[in-house]
Amino acid sequence: MAPIILTGDRPTGALHLGHYAGSLAQRVILQEQHPIFVLIADTQVLNNDVTKAQHVKAHTLALMRDYMAVGLKPEKVTFVLQSAVSELFELSSYFANIVSLAQIQRIPTIKKENSLYNQGQANMGFLNYPIAQSADIALFGATLVPVGEDQVPILEFGNDLLARFNHHFSTSYFERITPILSSTPRLMGLDGKQKMSKSLNNAIYLRDDEKTLKKKINLMYTDSNHLNISDPGCVEGNVVFDFLEAFYEDKKHLEELKKHYRQGGLGDGQTKSLLFNVLNPLLNKFRENCLSYTDSDLYDILHTGTQQAQKLAKQRMQEIRDIIFK
Ligand code: TRP
Repeated sequence: MAPIILTGDRPTGALHLGHYAGSLAQRVILQEQHPIFVLIADTQVLNNDVTKAQHVKAHTLALMRDYMAVGLKPEKVTFVLQSAVSELFELSSYFANIVSLAQIQRIPTIKKENSLYNQGQANMGFLNYPIAQSADIALFGATLVPVGEDQVPILEFGNDLLARFNHHFSTSYFERITPILSSTPRLMGLDGKQKMSKSLNNAIYLRDDEKTLKKKINLMYTDSNHLNISDPGCVEGNVVFDFLEAFYEDKKHLEELKKHYRQGGLGDGQTKSLLFNVLNPLLNKFRENCLSYTDSDLYDILHTGTQQAQKLAKQRMQEIRDIIFK
């Protein structure tokens, strides 16, 4: 049997091109090769801020629409709503007994996120999330997990946890997890100062309309020393070139443009207009892909996937209980 893939997203709002370049495009390919679960981590959202609960439902729907937009197929992908699979919480509870608080606090991702989101005042839900995430993966028997670089230490922790479980209960039930990293580095935001991120207000969303796209491309940072078209320009740190690098398929032409830009004589208006012509068809495709789905269709797809996942979860959880309480 082909190894099972599982990945997940927190429903925190519309997805942007950074998500697409960093992970969604890869999933669209992987869905053709492996059984794949995509988990909407709605309970994980609450780990950072429980007051966000009121937005989770709307964001879940937006996430499903974004999935359809990029071309994930309901017949290929099992979409799972985390909060609807109670076995995940049961498995987390068993796992929690073989993990020490010190182990959690040592995970680099946890240290970083704790100061970022919680001002160092983590709640128990947050501290439990590496355990819960290991349960997300292990319950469905997934072994391949596409994640961003920042999540790799969580998966390493997961492997340690699963090995410990196997050892404690003299079993080989849980297999090792292997991260799949995207080959595309994360995309810059419009401002060119930081990576694209919703909270920094520097993102192009997958379902931005044509006018918004044009406006955002016009706002893109290029090179503050490139005042006249004839001036030599800098390609490094130039957001327009960063985007062309990620999305423009004619690499040969791109190299020529870079050379021209560096020499001088190539205006930002021209590079921006090319970028618009590259991105607009992509976004158009996204818009079209999800047009035919009503909200109720999206709920149905999520519901169908979740039901399949529940069935598998029930069966595997019984096997796990039998291992623990033999
Ligand atoms: N923590 C992941 C994120 O914030 C989401 C997630 C939840 C996940 N469960 C998972 C990712 C299991 C991979 C596997 O993006």
